[in-house]
Amino acid sequence: MTEATARAYPNIALVKYWGKRDEALMLPVAGSLSMTLDDLPTTTTVSLTDSNADAFSLNGEAQSGSGLTKVVRFLDLVRDMAGSPTKAQVVSTNEGPTAAGLASSASGFAALALAASKAYGLDLDLPALSRLARRGSGSASRSVIDRFAIWHAGTDDASSFAEQIDAPDMRMIVLTVSGQKKEVSSRDGMRRTAETSPFWEGWVSSTETLLAEAADAARAHDFTKLGELTELHAMRMHAVIMSAAPSIRYLAPASFAAFDALKELRQQGIETYGTADAGPNIVAIARPDDAAAVAERLSEFGSTLTVGPGRGAHLVEG
Ligand code: PMV
Repeated sequence: MTEATARAYPNIALVKYWGKRDEALMLPVAGSLSMTLDDLPTTTTVSLTDSNADAFSLNGEAQSGSGLTKVVRFLDLVRDMAGSPTKAQVVSTNEGPTAAGLASSASGFAALALAASKAYGLDLDLPALSRLARRGSGSASRSVIDRFAIWHAGTDDASSFAEQIDAPDMRMIVLTVSGQKKEVSSRDGMRRTAETSPFWEGWVSSTETLLAEAADAARAHDFTKLGELTELHAMRMHAVIMSAAPSIRYLAPASFAAFDALKELRQQGIETYGTADAGPNIVAIARPDDAAAVAERLSEFGSTLTVGPGRGAHLVEG
């Protein structure tokens, strides 16, 4: 096959990934746990060409600069694995992640990993595909997996990959409080936090402990326990990020107001918990029957989108 098309969705972590032990191999300091979404896909076609350079277009626009460089470096990894010098044309479309304020790197590199590996004739199993996607963006390792994924930190390239984990059915209510581009990229933010926070070691060791508890809660379908750990871990991540020097603050006043609203909903008997990535947007989790009430309450702070557990990266007709 010299052309393949793949689709993948973003994922949102319940137990976060924040920090690398190896930047080149994208090995994380600790494991993480996420839900793959059923909306906002990236669809990517990779076609081998006889051109002497790779080309990449996103939503119909030819890319240059750092966007293109990341894709070329990723294709180089695939070419190394396949033993092929051939260049490729990469055509990607992202369905609305910008509007939802969700990072598209996870869906982007998961789709690219599958489409490129197929186009270059590789037949990777799921762990190998997850390891390859990880090299593009750490969180992409989780978007190759259906529904819920646990990314084992591992100690080397071979042992750091995501696999499926059983978890209670839930919905995520994505609240966009700001569509602005984040001020500090997750890559730079992770590096600065690791280099300057006096709380770094506590963050790493407590994440491994919390991940084990969250994985147990997920497998036991204990939504309450999993939700409590999700919100706690988000607070710890933003606390350690704020403790970097110079301090980084991704959460905005509206983000805190939204967390307060979730607490009020809990007091009213609607069980919902929040998390937030490297930006001001909040993602609430709820049981399916409670999702509409949570979305209605959060719409006070911005636009909301309700999503459920979705498919991992898969091939589609081009
Ligand atoms: O994979 P990256 O570089 O986009 O990092 C993702 C970092 C967080 O979204 C903040 C947490 C996570 O686990 O997804």
